Amino acid sequence: MMSIGIAQNKKVHEFFLFFLFNAKNEKKESLLMNILIIGAGGFIGSHLSEELLKRHTAWEITAIDISNAKISHLLCNPNFHFLKLDILKDSLEDYIEASNVVFPLAAIASPSIYVRDPLRVFELDFEANLKIVKLAVKHKTRIIFPSTSEVYGMSQDAEFEEDYSNCVTGPICKQRWIYSCSKQMLDRVIYAYGIRDNLNYTLFRPFNWIGPRLDDICNKNNGSSRVVTQFLSNILHGDDIKVVGGGDQIRCFTYISDGIDALIKIIENDASSKRIINIGNPNNKCSIKELAEKMLALAKEYEKTKFNAERIKIVEIDSNDYYGKSYQDILVRVPSIQKAKGILDWHPKVGMEESLKKIMDFYFI
Ligand code: UGA
Repeated sequence: MMSIGIAQNKKVHEFFLFFLFNAKNEKKESLLMNILIIGAGGFIGSHLSEELLKRHTAWEITAIDISNAKISHLLCNPNFHFLKLDILKDSLEDYIEASNVVFPLAAIASPSIYVRDPLRVFELDFEANLKIVKLAVKHKTRIIFPSTSEVYGMSQDAEFEEDYSNCVTGPICKQRWIYSCSKQMLDRVIYAYGIRDNLNYTLFRPFNWIGPRLDDICNKNNGSSRVVTQFLSNILHGDDIKVVGGGDQIRCFTYISDGIDALIKIIENDASSKRIINIGNPNNKCSIKELAEKMLALAKEYEKTKFNAERIKIVEIDSNDYYGKSYQDILVRVPSIQKAKGILDWHPKVGMEESLKKIMDFYFI
């Protein structure tokens, strides 16, 4: 099958859709799959595509994104069909109709953008994704949707539980919460479609997934990426590591291969239907200060970063100075993963040190 830039050529595009529709019908009989990954060129999308192609060699993956930089190594696979489309401008209806399962993974997920450009977050994460949800309802396509750990906000629970924990966000002037609220609203809409229209959905909630291809570490600006890649960037450029508000805030970091393992179990397992499932690693519970210390120590073992790692310091910075006044933080974020264990027979395997080493091997070797 052909791959790149199909949408640009109308005839080829029509032929591709004809192929997908046929495949969908055939596969309904034989339990094979057409998977549509919107945002396949991102962090989660690229790893999901890669692993699906390895494990399910008969499945067809239609990958939509505005860039294929992170998936260029997959383009020659005959079961991988990349379409350069922009979800803010192009219609995806035909592809959603032709697929058995859709993963809408295109979203902005960096807190610095929530505070700097909240309406861009709303337009992409909420408005554009709402259209996809409605098309999944219309065409009865199964939707596996990325909710987020941020939906729980500043919940005081020691562990966040999908069906019990409250979702606690701050005042409107704290614009950080626009991402949490956009995702929460979509969670509620999807849940309601499940009840009213029998939408076949799973909402998964990633808790600080980390791994190769997370964010671009060449960008030197503070807040240009999520914490692990931000610290890598600081180390690479010889800049001090800044721990916001002193660094006592807690996150549980989940290595990407564990996250992808859970997503593939969700596809394979009908019991995940109409469920909300946390996907996180409570064993990798770590304060941001501890994270900085661990990363700095490890960076001393790499030729590329040894010199800088011996010299840079960990410094404290006020959140107003780092993100601006409309930021508010989550102080302790720990998932309960009882549901994932029970429904999916899944548990995370990759520890904190090993995760950081794998990431540093990717970025620094
Ligand atoms: C993240 C993002 O919102 C999403 O990627 C995602 O949905 C969700 O949480 C998740 O992955 O579970 P957060 O964990 O706050 O939110 O994002 P990071 O940017 O990775 O920051 C983690 C912590 O490190 C925050 O407390 C932040 O203030 C701190 N930080 C960040 C620093 O101390 N220094 C830095 O240079 C950068």
